[in-house]
Amino acid sequence: MTNFLAFSNRKGGSGKTTTAVHVAAGLALMGNRVLLVDCDPQAHATLWLVRNNDNSKGLYEVLTNKLHLEESLSNTYIKGLHILSASRKLSEFEVKYTRESGAAHILKKCLLCCTSQFDYIIFDTPPYLGLLLVSALMATQFVFVTLPLQALAMEGLKDIVYLINKIAHKTNNGLELRGIIPVMFNKNLLSSRKLLKEIISVYGDKLLYPFVRQNIRLAEAPAIHKLIYDYVPNSNGAVDYWNLVNAISSSY
Ligand SMILES: Nc1ncnc2c1ncn2[C@@H]1O[C@H](COP(=O)(O)OP(=O)(O)OP(=O)(O)O)[C@@H](O)[C@H]1O
Ligand SMILES: [Mg+2]
Repeated sequence: MTNFLAFSNRKGGSGKTTTAVHVAAGLALMGNRVLLVDCDPQAHATLWLVRNNDNSKGLYEVLTNKLHLEESLSNTYIKGLHILSASRKLSEFEVKYTRESGAAHILKKCLLCCTSQFDYIIFDTPPYLGLLLVSALMATQFVFVTLPLQALAMEGLKDIVYLINKIAHKTNNGLELRGIIPVMFNKNLLSSRKLLKEIISVYGDKLLYPFVRQNIRLAEAPAIHKLIYDYVPNSNGAVDYWNLVNAISSSY
């Protein structure tokens, strides 16, 4: 059975892409067949994982029925990890289709044909409330919220939890907030430690997944198209993401 996981937050720069990429790659390195669906027109996951990306195939072409899903996938350098790449054209899709009824179901329908090919389908989502974020939340079963342990982070968390609950009640009854992943943790910052306590007091510790420390190597990795596992395997970032991948993998 395919597991559908989305990494989301309504706050920009909150570690969604870094986490989606490392979880998808980690699960593939464990031997799973993984598809990463890049739903963000900024295409950060695509630019990170696919050198010389072919802009004529990807999520936009699938959503607009120009290509079949199988023809639109790109390989990455990690065995077992494919990507349905994003491009700026996704913004056009969003503008054009936002008012069309049923538009938010298209992504889910497109993915149904390939579920037997993948153990995990993982969505990297945009930070703003729009058709692409809603489409990902309609297509997925589980959502992980990446939460930077920084000032005002609780606001982004409340917004995304509200949206998840709304979609779960109205259109995707199977949708579940599976976990909160604190990222960019800095033990020297009082605000980081306080925020961690606040999350536990509001949402309980059942939702809390292993945290990822602030690590400069993680910020350097996309520019050289590498994963932290290859770039600096003994860094805090690599250690933390492996812990997280193990925690996620053992819960399915
Ligand atoms: N644990 C970390 N330590 C240090 N830097 C990090 C960490 N996680 C992510 N970053 C950096 O923080 C920035 C934002 O991270 P990322 O791109 O993953 O967030 P995002 O939520 O996907 O952003 P957007 O909303 O723009 O899509 C990036 O420059 C990234 O390299
Ligand atoms: Mg991103």
